[in-house]
Amino acid sequence: MKDKVCLVTGANSGIGFETAKSLCAKGATVIMVCRSLEKANRAISDINKEVPGARTYAAIADLASQASIHALAEKLKAEFRTVDVLVNNAGSWFSAYGVTEDKIERQWAINHLAPFLLTHLMLPLLIKSNDPRVITVSSDSHFHGKIHFDDVNLKNNYHGLRAYAQSKLANVLFTVEFERRKRATPIAAYAVQPGLVKTDIGVKHTISFHALMWKLRRLGGKSPQKGAETSIYLASDPTVSTMSGLYWDDCQPKVPSNKALDEDIAAKVWELSLAMCGVEDYFSITRNPEV
Ligand SMILES: NC(=O)c1ccc[n+]([C@@H]2O[C@H](COP(=O)([O-])OP(=O)(O)OC[C@H]3O[C@@H](n4cnc5c(N)ncnc54)[C@H](OP(=O)(O)O)[C@@H]3O)[C@@H](O)[C@H]2O)c1
Repeated sequence: MKDKVCLVTGANSGIGFETAKSLCAKGATVIMVCRSLEKANRAISDINKEVPGARTYAAIADLASQASIHALAEKLKAEFRTVDVLVNNAGSWFSAYGVTEDKIERQWAINHLAPFLLTHLMLPLLIKSNDPRVITVSSDSHFHGKIHFDDVNLKNNYHGLRAYAQSKLANVLFTVEFERRKRATPIAAYAVQPGLVKTDIGVKHTISFHALMWKLRRLGGKSPQKGAETSIYLASDPTVSTMSGLYWDDCQPKVPSNKALDEDIAAKVWELSLAMCGVEDYFSITRNPEV
C-alpha cells in the first residue's frame, strides 16, 4: 500500500479506527475523517503508538451536514492529487427520530447520503488512481430493510431499527447501482458486512433500553480489529479489483437480499439520492445498456 492514499470516514473509533490503523501499518497515507480535531488527534496519537511513523492526515467533517461534506471535499481536492481508496465507514444509530440541518432523517443522511455524496465528490481524485476502490460499510441488517419511498425520512413511521436497516440496504443498493452505472470507469465498489462487532455504535445516541440491549447483544460480537478485516482486505488485496459491485462478508462475496439486487429499486434510490444531495449523476449516463 506504499504510495496509496486511503480516505476512511469514522476513523476515530471502532471498525474505522482499526481500518485506518491497519492501512497505516501497510504503508498507506490515511486521511482520517473525524467529527472534531480533538477526536482525530487522539486517534492519530493512538495509531502512532502502534505504528510509529504512520502517515496520517486529520480531516474534519460532520457527515450529517451536506455543507460540511462539500467543504471536506474542497479541502481534500486542494491538498491531494489522488485518492486510491475511499472507505465509507462512518455510521450512526439513533433511537429517536430527528433531522439534520438539511431536514433529512439522521440515519438516512449519515449512513447513506453521506457516502453517496462523498463518493460523488471524490470521484475526480479517485479516477486519477490506477486502482481506485470505494468500500461502503453496510450490514446484514439490510436483510430486514425496505426503502420507504413514500416517507424515506420515516417521519410518520420512525423506529431506530427500521431507519438503520433502510440505510444499510441503501448502502448495498448504492454499490450494486454504482457498478451498473460506471460502465468503463475503472473504479471498483464493494459493500461490506463487518459482522457483529463490539463497538459503541449502539450506546452513543440511544435511549437506555436500547443501549442495554446493544450492550447485551455485543457480548457475542467480535473485536473491532476482526470487524475491520473485510474492509482492509478489499482496500489492499491486489486480486479483488475485478470483483466489483458485490456484497462481502468475511473477505468473501455473499449474496445480499433480493431487494438489494432489485434493479428498479436501485435506480430509484440512486435518483432519489441525487435529488436529496442536489448533485448531477457523476457518470452522466442512462441505465440503457444500448447507450
Ligand atoms: N458494530 C457492529 O456490530 C456493526 C455491524 C454492522 C455494521 N456496522 C457498521 O460499521 C460502521 C462503523 O461502526 P462501528 O460499529 O465501528 O461504530 P462506532 O465505533 O460508533 O464508529 C462509527 C464512526 O462513525 C463516526 N460518525 C458517526 N456519525 C458521524 C457524523 N455525523 N460525522 C462524522 N463522523 C460520524 C463516529 O464518530 P463519533 O465517534 O464522533 O461518533 C465513529 O467514528 C458503521 O457504518 C456501522 O453501521 C457495525
